[in-house]
Amino acid sequence: MEIRLENLSKHFAGVKAVDSVNLEVKTGEFISLVGPSGCGKTTTLRLIAGLETPTSGEIYFDGKPVSRVAPSRRNVAMVFQSYAIYPHMTVLDNIAFPLEARGVAKKERVKLAKEAAEFVRIEQFLDRKPGQLSGGQRQRVALARAIVRQPSVYLMDEPLSNLDAKLRVLMRAELKRMHQKLKVTTVYVTHDQVEAMAMSDRVAVMNEGILQQVGTPDDLYYCPQNQWVAGFIGSPPMNLIECTLSETAGLKCLGTGESTITLEEGLAAELKEKAPGSKLVLGVRPEHLSVHKERKEDSLEAEVYALEPLGEHVIVDLLLQDMMIKAKTAPGFTAEMGSKVYLTFPKESIYIYDQDTLLTRGCSSP
Ligand SMILES: Nc1ncnc2c1ncn2[C@@H]1O[C@H](COP(=O)(O)OP(=O)(O)OP(=O)(O)O)[C@@H](O)[C@H]1O
Ligand SMILES: [Mg+2]
Repeated sequence: MEIRLENLSKHFAGVKAVDSVNLEVKTGEFISLVGPSGCGKTTTLRLIAGLETPTSGEIYFDGKPVSRVAPSRRNVAMVFQSYAIYPHMTVLDNIAFPLEARGVAKKERVKLAKEAAEFVRIEQFLDRKPGQLSGGQRQRVALARAIVRQPSVYLMDEPLSNLDAKLRVLMRAELKRMHQKLKVTTVYVTHDQVEAMAMSDRVAVMNEGILQQVGTPDDLYYCPQNQWVAGFIGSPPMNLIECTLSETAGLKCLGTGESTITLEEGLAAELKEKAPGSKLVLGVRPEHLSVHKERKEDSLEAEVYALEPLGEHVIVDLLLQDMMIKAKTAPGFTAEMGSKVYLTFPKESIYIYDQDTLLTRGCSSP
């Protein structure tokens, strides 16, 4: 089923929880809603499920408006953050419950519930009560119960949030496989951008009720359209550094001192239309910064604040005057705390934002 949100808004006493959101989820697509706490993810999901009524705007399922369709008749299965499974029922009965409510005969119920349990690999626990399961196993019961209904849409609200880091990553793969097999339209809510990128066909980034950008994981990484998305996607996300445009169409930034950073010709030409002195923001991803101990041309001077050795790479926390930025360096990198370093970056991998829009020429994906 295809879902379309048209100028969808939900206001609660003074809070614009969802603010004129337009979004299309194609049939069979897995789309994530991602954003910080309170940005309106759950409210959007509840609107789609019919658990909230829009303040304005409309939701369409396969082109038909559903505002007046009761939640029970929308054929969506919602998996909540705090999965409500019944403690007094066995795993099997919990999974089969939606079928019983729908009047499916017992034999068929058991068959379908067992299939769903096998799918999420909890078939060995069918006779247990939820109290005898780990958090991750319970989470799977909730998923199996959603699968067994064979809905037209899955709505999942941080379904992995109660799991430990290792299990989260495991279940991430399970959910992805489940989607590839069942191809049911899925809207998945998470505040974890890595999880969203890893699982989704497309990711919708929200902040303060407003949809900031929708795109494939590569679109978001290679072409963040505004500073907010740039500073949210990536781990760690992009560094955003204040600059002003110099007379020579170079950039005078935090850390450049009296010198300027020269830009690629194309980009400099693009910036020619701007008046010298214009405020701009230079975006550089931590993975594109090289840290040198000796002064370099076109570099930013920074001070080493801390090192985070992560095995595959070292994150270097740096102070650019009073602003903290991050660089990802090769394993084994060391430096004295407080020492001066010089940062360089390939000119083709930078982004330049003016107020809030991306000025850089066509973003390239691999
Ligand atoms: N029933 C309600 N009454 C009043 N305000 C509400 C209600 N539900 C949500 N809000 C407000 O709407 C905004 C969006 O909430 P929502 O639950 O959609 O955020 P979220 O993105 O899911 O956050 P989280 O990641 O913390 O779950 C918040 O400011 C919240 O306080
Ligand atoms: Mg929420």
